Amino acid sequence: MKQFISVKDVQDINALVAKALAYKKSPFSDKKLGADKRIGLLFLNPSLRTRLSTQVAAQNLGMEPIVFNVDKEGWALEFEEGAIMNGTTVEHIKDAAPILGNYFDILCIRTFPGLVDKEADYSEKIIKQFIKHAGIPVVSLESATLHPLQSLTDIITIQESIASNASIKHKKPKVVLTWAPHIKPIPQCVANSFSEWMGAWGEADFVITHPEGYALSTEFTKGATIEHNQDEALKDADFVYVKNWSSYEQYGKVLSSDASWMMTNKKLALTNNAKLMHCLPVRRNVELSDEILDGPNSLVTKEASNRVWAAQAVLAEILKSHSI
Ligand code: CP
Repeated sequence: MKQFISVKDVQDINALVAKALAYKKSPFSDKKLGADKRIGLLFLNPSLRTRLSTQVAAQNLGMEPIVFNVDKEGWALEFEEGAIMNGTTVEHIKDAAPILGNYFDILCIRTFPGLVDKEADYSEKIIKQFIKHAGIPVVSLESATLHPLQSLTDIITIQESIASNASIKHKKPKVVLTWAPHIKPIPQCVANSFSEWMGAWGEADFVITHPEGYALSTEFTKGATIEHNQDEALKDADFVYVKNWSSYEQYGKVLSSDASWMMTNKKLALTNNAKLMHCLPVRRNVELSDEILDGPNSLVTKEASNRVWAAQAVLAEILKSHSI
């Protein structure tokens, strides 16, 4: 694996899931793989799960992780080509990234979208400039439009759950991604990425439900059924993935805060006793009710815990294919 920016970097999703689940059983089986290697984790935005799970994963492989909160501790970076830097930015990515490429063997970046300029966000210009100028393998810890480590984790969690549930083991599962209300504009990354991975995986009937005006970019939703009636979408679902996102069409806008879209036990009754997923952090009793999050159908803790194994599988693939 050359880099990990999207599902397009993965040759065989099921093989990567199997590798992750093998690490879950035996976390230190490749402890020597990353010996004497350094991994830099750069955060331009906050994180709990991604930051800690990737550090644990790197340590399980014998690597030394170094975390740098660029947003709080670094110089303000400039990304515009030819910029006259007489404003607030202090250091150009062209100067900073090659140095990071010399310090580290793998570079991981979290960089959220601005949610103002759709073209700029969807060009993924920030992570692409790190890739261009660092000269070492880059792993996305969530970029402007995608969150591939989360999506890999989600498929790991779905597969694990199917394997332990006799009632859905022998059928194609129905997976529903449902929009949920939120108090502020949230990126489309998790929803885009989950949709893209579900399409590439191809082993589920995948339905997306959202209010009018919340259609995701069709670049990521090929093969999905779009259903605007949430109750209809939830019928017979085996897995329900709850997530808010801001509008793609009216870019970055919050068009609805309709509380009737919040996932509750009443809605759960429409499903095939579905398992509930959310990437976290979650706004309790806004996106998902307490009763769901604290109930027996919630997979959210298992899902977040699986972030370690997803990251470990990806880092191991990169280490092996680069012989670094
Ligand atoms: N799901 C997720 O990426 O969590 P963090 O933002 O806490 O890393």
